[in-house]
Amino acid sequence: MFDYKIDTTDKAALYRDLYAACEAITMGEDDAIANMANIAALLWQYMPDLNWAGFYRMKNDALILGPFQGKAACIHIPLNKGVCGKAASSGEIQCINNVHEFEGHIACDAQSVSELVAPISDSQGNIIAVIDLDSPSANRFDTQDVEGIAQIAKLLRHRINT
Ligand code: SME
Repeated sequence: MFDYKIDTTDKAALYRDLYAACEAITMGEDDAIANMANIAALLWQYMPDLNWAGFYRMKNDALILGPFQGKAACIHIPLNKGVCGKAASSGEIQCINNVHEFEGHIACDAQSVSELVAPISDSQGNIIAVIDLDSPSANRFDTQDVEGIAQIAKLLRHRINT
């Protein structure tokens, strides 16, 4: 059993503790799927106001569904589609306050309103996956979320490289 102490009183504390938990739970484990599954579970358990948390993996120049928590989701995402495709093709984190105003957004769950997608690159700079977080609330994610998830994405570079 894993029992992490995650302080959820403010975002600084939350991301400090989440980062440490993500580092600890993936330490010494080289199986990418196992690591993504545990990270999705940690983000889902401790981040408030989410309706989906998980990964898409780069495969044959497109994104394919990876380990996640939430409702069943779209399996294939082309790189020119959706918030995830934009993050993977640009290599830049996408923080969308209202996905209904994002051209090309893919509605896997009609409840999703805001979305944060962080690309994960390997040590050569190739995008290997994205972390995707969805919320039923508008403007759910701010600069602290962007920074916190970017740090976790950076950590995972060495933990999900197959
Ligand atoms: N909404 C995403 C698709 C993935 S789901 O949210 C799980 C997008 O536009 O890329």
